[in-house]
Amino acid sequence: MTVYAIIGGSGLTQLEGLTIRQSLSVNTPYGAPSGEVQLGEFAGREVMFLARHGHPHRLPPHKINYRANVWALKQAGAEAILSINAVGGIHPDMGSGHFCVPHDLVDYTSSREHTFFADDLEQVTHIDFSHPYSEPLRERLIAALAADGHPFSDFGVYGCTQGPRLETAAEIVRLERDGCDIVGMTGMPEAALARELALDYACLALVVNPAAGKSGAVISMADIEQALHDGIGKVKAVLARVLSAA
Ligand code: HPA
Repeated sequence: MTVYAIIGGSGLTQLEGLTIRQSLSVNTPYGAPSGEVQLGEFAGREVMFLARHGHPHRLPPHKINYRANVWALKQAGAEAILSINAVGGIHPDMGSGHFCVPHDLVDYTSSREHTFFADDLEQVTHIDFSHPYSEPLRERLIAALAADGHPFSDFGVYGCTQGPRLETAAEIVRLERDGCDIVGMTGMPEAALARELALDYACLALVVNPAAGKSGAVISMADIEQALHDGIGKVKAVLARVLSAA
């Protein structure tokens, strides 16, 4: 049976329903991960959980040690990662509360440690990243969203920005021109690092606000938190369905 790890994003710093058997403090050659890797039972099977921003939420997107996080999960025995990400909606279908299982991404981040193949030049490896997300994992997420009856899109391009500020309206127009449907700050380099370590990886994105310039209103943290609060129960139900069926 595939060993799954869940990386929880904003609003999911703890996985309710996870019966924790062990909490591992994993040392990695890249430093400390965002927190302990929790091993336990969720939806009737063994899974791992890691809070991307720490618990409680303390690390902004550009301070997350993505290499340590992905390495720690691999080290703990993970074979596949389900990544949970809160995002802004760019495409008109992507209103608050909508789910998206992206099929591709564009990386706009800068100056993040983004590869395990950085130092030892004899080992530089150019991974194929044409299709950054695992199709079988995407299909599992899509089947669970359909079964739960949530509004969702089974494709979409995730634009990953540097943060921590939100984008300007003009930046969102640019992302839209580039083909992005949703925008977030934490999808990269995580997805690429997972590929470098041969881990299957897919993203379940929850839209928590219209992207900059898309609603005419100021994007408020209160609105984002409300959308997270409203959506996180659905995220957990989808995860439970994916894992119990996998
Ligand atoms: N932009 C970038 N990241 C985000 C957003 C956004 O509008 N909403 C949630 N994460």
